[in-house]
Amino acid sequence: MRLWGGRFSGDTDERVAAFTRSVEVDAALAQDDLAGSVAHVRGLGRAGLLTDDQVARLLAGIEQLRDDVAAGTLRWDLRLEDVHLNLEAALEERIGPLARRLHTGRSRNDQVATDLRLWLRRTIDSLDAAMVGMERALVGLAERDGEAILPGSTHIQPAQPVLLAHHLLAYVEMLERDRGRLADARRRANVSPLGSGALAGAGYPLDRAAVAAELGFDGVTANSIDAVSDRDFAVEFLAAAALCMVHLSRLAEEITWWSNPRFGFVRPADAFSTGSSMMPNKKNPDPAELVRGRAARVVGALAGLLALLKGLPLAYQRDLQEDKPPLFETAATLEASLDVMAGLVGSLTVNAERMRLAAAEGYTTATAVADALVRRGVAFRTAHHLVGTLVAEAERGGIGLDALPDATIAAALADATDSIAAALIGDPTLPGELRAAAGLEGAVASCDVVGGTAPGRVRAALAAARERLGA
Ligand code: ARG
Repeated sequence: MRLWGGRFSGDTDERVAAFTRSVEVDAALAQDDLAGSVAHVRGLGRAGLLTDDQVARLLAGIEQLRDDVAAGTLRWDLRLEDVHLNLEAALEERIGPLARRLHTGRSRNDQVATDLRLWLRRTIDSLDAAMVGMERALVGLAERDGEAILPGSTHIQPAQPVLLAHHLLAYVEMLERDRGRLADARRRANVSPLGSGALAGAGYPLDRAAVAAELGFDGVTANSIDAVSDRDFAVEFLAAAALCMVHLSRLAEEITWWSNPRFGFVRPADAFSTGSSMMPNKKNPDPAELVRGRAARVVGALAGLLALLKGLPLAYQRDLQEDKPPLFETAATLEASLDVMAGLVGSLTVNAERMRLAAAEGYTTATAVADALVRRGVAFRTAHHLVGTLVAEAERGGIGLDALPDATIAAALADATDSIAAALIGDPTLPGELRAAAGLEGAVASCDVVGGTAPGRVRAALAAARERLGA
């Protein structure tokens, strides 16, 4: 039964067999393992280690296994430890003793490293598509309701008004960087360990580059010891995934607040909400909460893999088998989170009126008023102080900055004991100018720099995002 049993007498203890096997988990690598075997068999043929006929029969057998794996009909034998030994044994069942030549010049150590890199490559490709889907949902909402004015906040306090589209596009930027990080991780992962053997390199003149090219790798690993021990690529993936989950979690957090009736900025569709078993009134943003919760698990996966690696001497150690659960779980979690968040964002009903009322609270246009004074020659620090007194005055009167009477403005200018400010007293156009800057539209329009929230800038950013996402 055991494919490595020659030097052993007696059976493996049941507990050891159960404890060491990984097939329940690594069966997910079956199609990658078989792809690696196809390229390896061809390489053995080219190296003269197999005849053309042997190559053809091995490939036919592997092809059958591929069909069985695709159809889900391959029976995994728990006694056979892992995916590699299962597939090798299944091949022998189908094509007989010729299967015993498959493992020539190969170890499970370079094999599993190859499988994982192939798995990661295809996983990153499908995650990239999910990230694009999430970005499209954000851009779609920004196009639909992005002109709504939101109270931008710092310290969770009202700060400055911004366009909703501008706020949503901030997440698009994060996701673009997440895509870049995954693409970067993919590039470094895309080299072939095959031919590294157990640790020292294969004992046959294999053309590693040709095998690598057949598998779509960009090249081969340069050091066999590194090739079988390195899991940097897995760490890079988990780090990029953890960061993307953190980004989704921040958005999820905002949606939970925004959908609270006290805010009332957005309302998720019923299809993206759940209820309470006891309180008939409840409509909860559970998908967003669970994205926030699952971000914790992915951060844990990253920390777990780093901890797994930190004490390992070279080269392969069995500890490395534990790399798979965090990788597989992370990929599934990230993809599901992206999909559900895209749906949730697309389902939101925006209440622009509630946003506007909130944006007008807390004197959020004060900075814009100070900027207007600066444009009239007042030093910013003086303008800051002067507008501070206007805010206090408006607060006392229970009015907005855009309703301050001329006399109050003149008094504040006089109090400033600043010659430039004093010279503005009695200027007939100034009070109107300041009140315009104090309006939400005026304040938003004044942030007219690249990356700012002025409507023209946001429209350009939205168009650029659309273009990048390909419609
Ligand atoms: N199941 C193992 C893993 O995932 C495969 C490599 C095992 N190699 C060994 N010499 N036991 O890492």
